[in-house]
Amino acid sequence: MNLKANNISFSYNKKREILKDVSLSLNSNQIIGLIGDSGSGKSTLCKILAGYITNYDGDVTIDGKKIPDKDFYPVQLIFQHPEKTMNPKWKMEKVLTESWNPPQNLKDMFGLKDNWLTRWPNELSGGELQRFSILRALNPKTKFIIADEISTMLDALTQVQIWEALINYSKANNIGILAVSHDIELLEVLCDDILHFEDINNL
Ligand SMILES: Nc1ncnc2c1ncn2[C@@H]1O[C@H](COP(=O)(O)OP(=O)(O)O)[C@@H](O)[C@H]1O
Ligand SMILES: [Mg+2]
Repeated sequence: MNLKANNISFSYNKKREILKDVSLSLNSNQIIGLIGDSGSGKSTLCKILAGYITNYDGDVTIDGKKIPDKDFYPVQLIFQHPEKTMNPKWKMEKVLTESWNPPQNLKDMFGLKDNWLTRWPNELSGGELQRFSILRALNPKTKFIIADEISTMLDALTQVQIWEALINYSKANNIGILAVSHDIELLEVLCDDILHFEDINNL
């Protein structure tokens, strides 16, 4: 499968354009890195790819077809701050199974401990929460993952564990990953190819 952004232009308000004619292509089983300055519009592009923002010019397609917005969205966004995407009044078991019920071997792969499931989000660390948000995004219907600075807040060991698990799962299940980071060394280790945001944004 192939995810494409074709000539995406977007502004939050009339004063300032954020994205101009941005195009990119991501195949299943491919890991593409995206690096760029803070505030340049990377997260905005991520939200467009994952269907969170819809009032943009241009189009986003999978295998040449527009993505239907009903049913499950096959492009899943994982954010830098997992706590912001979780209902604080839900225990972690409910947070996790909101999307699907991951099998035990996958929970083990992401180092999820059973006793975390009965806790509230504020009783877990950022790294522990991020393991949940990644696993939650790996619904069997997911075809592409947009990983927006997902390991920026984590210590080096957690960063390695999380990326290893995500990449192993994605390779085995033919999922393509767009990895957004300002850490060029990380991207050089992880990615098949690296895009520089200023090269694809024609402002
Ligand atoms: N919801 C919003 N409303 C208005 N402006 C926004 C909104 N979200 C982000 N911006 C602005 O858009 C620009 C790009 O932001 P963002 O996409 O988050 O950049 P990056 O991820 O590259 O740091 C920034 O100037 C930011 O302040
Ligand atoms: Mg960002």
